[in-house]
Amino acid sequence: MLPRLLVALTTLLSLAYVVSAIPANVDRLYPIGPRDAGRKCGNDLTPEDVSEKEKAFASLLAQNKAAEKVTAVAGNFTIPVIFNVVYASMNISDGYVPDSQVQAQIDVMNQDYNGTGLSFQLQNITRTLNATWFNNAAPNVDVQTDMKNALRQGDVKTLNIYTVGFTSSSALGLLGYSTFPADYAGDPMNDGVVILYSSLPGGSEASFNLGRTSTHEVGHWVGLYHPFQGGCDGPGDYVDDTPAEAIPAAGCPIGRDTCSSPGLDPVQNYMDYSNDACMNNFTPGQIARLQSQIQTYRGIQL
Ligand SMILES: *[C@@H]1O[C@H](CO)[C@@H](O)[C@H](O)[C@H]1NC(C)=O
Ligand SMILES: *[C@@H]1O[C@H](CO)[C@@H](O)[C@H](O)[C@H]1NC(C)=O
Ligand SMILES: *[C@@H]1O[C@H](CO)[C@@H](O)[C@H](O)[C@H]1NC(C)=O
Ligand SMILES: *[C@@H]1O[C@H](CO)[C@@H](O)[C@H](O)[C@H]1NC(C)=O
Ligand SMILES: *[C@@H]1O[C@H](CO)[C@@H](O)[C@H](O)[C@H]1NC(C)=O
Ligand SMILES: [Zn+2]
Repeated sequence: MLPRLLVALTTLLSLAYVVSAIPANVDRLYPIGPRDAGRKCGNDLTPEDVSEKEKAFASLLAQNKAAEKVTAVAGNFTIPVIFNVVYASMNISDGYVPDSQVQAQIDVMNQDYNGTGLSFQLQNITRTLNATWFNNAAPNVDVQTDMKNALRQGDVKTLNIYTVGFTSSSALGLLGYSTFPADYAGDPMNDGVVILYSSLPGGSEASFNLGRTSTHEVGHWVGLYHPFQGGCDGPGDYVDDTPAEAIPAAGCPIGRDTCSSPGLDPVQNYMDYSNDACMNNFTPGQIARLQSQIQTYRGIQL
């Protein structure tokens, strides 16, 4: 059980990191890895954001269930993937990742989503030289809108992944971020997942180069929240079988227990912040949620 102060501090910090540089004192909470503040995903939602999204979801889901548009899962769906490689020079350290790493990333996603009813098929790799996008793309930044407007292909069922460098001060330290299924209708061109190029399998980002950043961000793309969303109290990530967690995990703290509610922290869950090698599961509750999210918002029939 961690002191409430720490919980409050972490909530504040996690809200702040998208819009400003990481406060130095965050290091204390994430004392691992070359990315000195550990895994950082740009998907931060306030409890108000989440509760609004969930009210709308509950009501749509009820309507769709009544209309039998959301059904018990019977089969599998293959998601077409457009892989947009954005680079600053034709050097791998400037984002020019080889096709073999892209295919290896798709393979990791197929392993990690095995049993969810989803699989992924590479449809196209685009390669674009643009140092501005490579360096500065980040959540809610105009150049990432330019990038997506120029590159996005496909429809609501198509997964667009963008690899960039996150080198600018507002993006520095990010491993990735994603839109949620419910966001598509209001802003279709913004839909997709943006990840650090060196997080691909075989990439140079130590502790985060087995491809699990993509697995995690695609988890948001299919409607999952972080298990530490909301901390120990309240509905958390809206999944019953992911025990509540006060703060993100870092490294691989198996056995950690930050909330008095039942269950150890789900540090090996793909939606936590642990190292790539630590992560190995989605829970049945997460699988049920992602299936109803994509049936509701992406028109995907399983
Ligand atoms: C869906 O895919 C899984 C894993 O490949 C397989 O075990 C299952 O039989 C498939 N289900 C259907 C209905 O094809
Ligand atoms: C690629 O970048 C690395 C690191 O900056 C550098 O050491 C290497 O010389 C570069 N290679 C080429 C072919 O420019
Ligand atoms: C999915 O799991 C099944 C059963 O465990 C296994 O046979 C299959 O090879 C797996 N597929 C992938 C892509 O990992
Ligand atoms: C792949 O993307 C390019 C744009 O970069 C497009 O011209 C081409 O038609 C696409 N190919 C396929 C098979 O979708
Ligand atoms: C590179 O990005 C900038 C900023 O979004 C944009 O103005 C420019 O057109 C882009 N260049 C190319 C070649 O895509
Ligand atoms: Zn995340």
